[in-house]
Amino acid sequence: MDFGVDYMDKKSFAGFYKKEIKERQEILAKEFDLSKDEKALLSKESALPFSVANRMIENVVGTFPLPYSVATNFVIDGKDYIIPMAIEEPSVVAAASNAAKISNGFETAADEPIMIGQIQVINIKDAEHAKNTIEHHKTELLELVEKVDPVLIKFGGGPKDLQVNILEDEKGKMLEVQLLVDVRDAMGANAINTMTEKLAPKIEELTKGKAILKIISNLAIYRRAQAKAVWTKDALGGSTKGKFNGEEVVEAILNAYRFAVATQFRATTHNKGIMNGIDAVMIATGQDFRAIEAGAHSFAAYKGKYSPLTKYSKDKDGNLVGEIDMPLVLGIVGGAIKVHPLAQLSMKILGVKTAEELARIIVSVGLAQNFAALRVLSTEGLQKGHMRLHAKNIAVQAGATKEEIDIVAAKMVEAKEVSQGKAEEILGEIRK
Ligand code: HMG
Repeated sequence: MDFGVDYMDKKSFAGFYKKEIKERQEILAKEFDLSKDEKALLSKESALPFSVANRMIENVVGTFPLPYSVATNFVIDGKDYIIPMAIEEPSVVAAASNAAKISNGFETAADEPIMIGQIQVINIKDAEHAKNTIEHHKTELLELVEKVDPVLIKFGGGPKDLQVNILEDEKGKMLEVQLLVDVRDAMGANAINTMTEKLAPKIEELTKGKAILKIISNLAIYRRAQAKAVWTKDALGGSTKGKFNGEEVVEAILNAYRFAVATQFRATTHNKGIMNGIDAVMIATGQDFRAIEAGAHSFAAYKGKYSPLTKYSKDKDGNLVGEIDMPLVLGIVGGAIKVHPLAQLSMKILGVKTAEELARIIVSVGLAQNFAALRVLSTEGLQKGHMRLHAKNIAVQAGATKEEIDIVAAKMVEAKEVSQGKAEEILGEIRK
């Protein structure tokens, strides 16, 4: 396999996973001719100690810090929250904070933490008979699963139902056995995967079929969270510093929402905007944000057409009402949240006691993030605010020193031109 570099010796990566971090860093340094500064990047410990990182994933050679910040102004179910976010994109945190500031606060709801485990059964002679047999033994099967995780049972969780679907493709019929489990404050993957593996042999015995996959489903349709917020016409008019009146902003956002309903090409980016906020809080709290992403976009298509995860309307006073409803799967026990020091710090800042409360917060951030994007996209345009915040990055890219960055950024925003070329031009002027 061509690794794209002509001097690398692949043999030095043999057994890489068995080596100490320091050895792995030395191998990389040698094989890729790393400079002293590049080597220092690998050996620099961050808030995540190497000893912890080395237990979290394999082949660790360093850590990869992200900007870690907090969104402000959030009032959710009448409670004030400062919300940690970790993300590389400018303007996301400012946008969420501003959306929260000009809202009337967020009201939320959340389902019980019911997750789905799937068992795939193939090579069955009579699918209907096999389905009926499993259903006939449901109680016995659920009792079998209960024994797997007594701790979950102690906290009021455990298996709640067993459903069987007959699926068919060109190779014939197969069964999908869905095990529904209340996983309480866990994300649930470990518990569910153990339970489905435990149940599979019994299912094979009953159906004379062959169980292939036993795994959690990330389309967590029974574990959703909802949030709702009102943005008044006055607040909306004020947020554009008088450039648009409130009614115009409400109509503009409703038209932006219409566009997402009308075409999947817009709905995809509409939902990406939601996930900007959701992923940032998920990363800051040590969650599996890929599970959330998969579930969100799958749920967006669940009714047959990929659609926006939020909806907007006007109340009787002409104010804007925003709502969001989506699977929100996370845990506050187990996983990285217990071992990553900054995830622990985020939980302390949030002061949450249950996975449900965290889900209600995160889904509110998703709604806020989406509103913020629609507000600017449908009025002044994204670039003004985005580039104002991005201007500092552009100034740095153009070579501005610490003392010059703010001056160059301010002059670019004033000139309404944020680009590397403009930054270099301004640098030339101020350095004369
Ligand atoms: P503004 O009106 O110039 O802000 O908007 P402001 O200076 O009047 O400040 C208002 C509030 O915003 C502040 O309140 C802060 O809460 C916050 P204050 O504390 O002053 O009482 N704020 C900031 N917070 C932290 N750092 C800052 C900062 N500046 C303001 N530097 C703003 C500026 C960026 C808020 C506005 O232009 C905005 O909301 N833009 C939206 C940008 C956005 O949505 N970015 C997300 C990434 S792009 C994205 O989502 C992908 C996308 O494709 C999704 C889609 O298509 O739907 C767009």
